Amino acid sequence: MALHLGDTAPDFEIETTKGTIKFHDWIGDSWCFFFSHPADFTPVCTTEMGRTAQLAKEFEARNVKPLGLSTDTVEEHVKWIEDVNETQNTTLDFPIVADADLKISKLYEMIHPEESSTAAVRSVFIIDPKKKIRLTMTYPMSVGRNFDEILRVIDALQVGDAHGIATPADWTKGDKVIIPPTVSNEEAQKRFPQGFEELKPYLRLTKVS
Ligand code: BEZ
Repeated sequence: MALHLGDTAPDFEIETTKGTIKFHDWIGDSWCFFFSHPADFTPVCTTEMGRTAQLAKEFEARNVKPLGLSTDTVEEHVKWIEDVNETQNTTLDFPIVADADLKISKLYEMIHPEESSTAAVRSVFIIDPKKKIRLTMTYPMSVGRNFDEILRVIDALQVGDAHGIATPADWTKGDKVIIPPTVSNEEAQKRFPQGFEELKPYLRLTKVS
């Protein structure tokens, strides 16, 4: 069955480079950036794993736990992490799921048979502390992900939750946000005492901190 935004992320218990984890328990009160890779010892994946490790403090500042996955064993992951650390000048400290039997890749629909029947594509699931799937992205094997965008959408989701707002195209933290059309002007005046601009009745902008 397809996984949709708002669905509860399927729970699982699995071996990782940091021991066995029970997914929901491991997420706890954090958010999770769960992302898959086709294979260990491959070039694009090596840069993505390295970038995630380099951004550890950025994820931590947002209360987000990264969890990687590729369809290889723990032993292979551990050897590969040495290469990631060496070539990307970092220390990778987040867990990587060992999914050699494709159990989790299939559960999360990370196998796209026209790309490969044995390796995962580059899937992203942003999961909130209630274990709801809040964002998905799917990239082909040949295209590395944009980690500025991954941090940006996490910011957008968290600011949206905190203030009940939406974010415009290319928004980054600190930019003006959108008051949803479901909020009346009267209600907006109460909720956003800092004021708002009304470009159209359905397009109202304000600033939140
Ligand atoms: C890579 O990580 O470079 C890669 C892996 C599988 C297919 C294509 C590229």
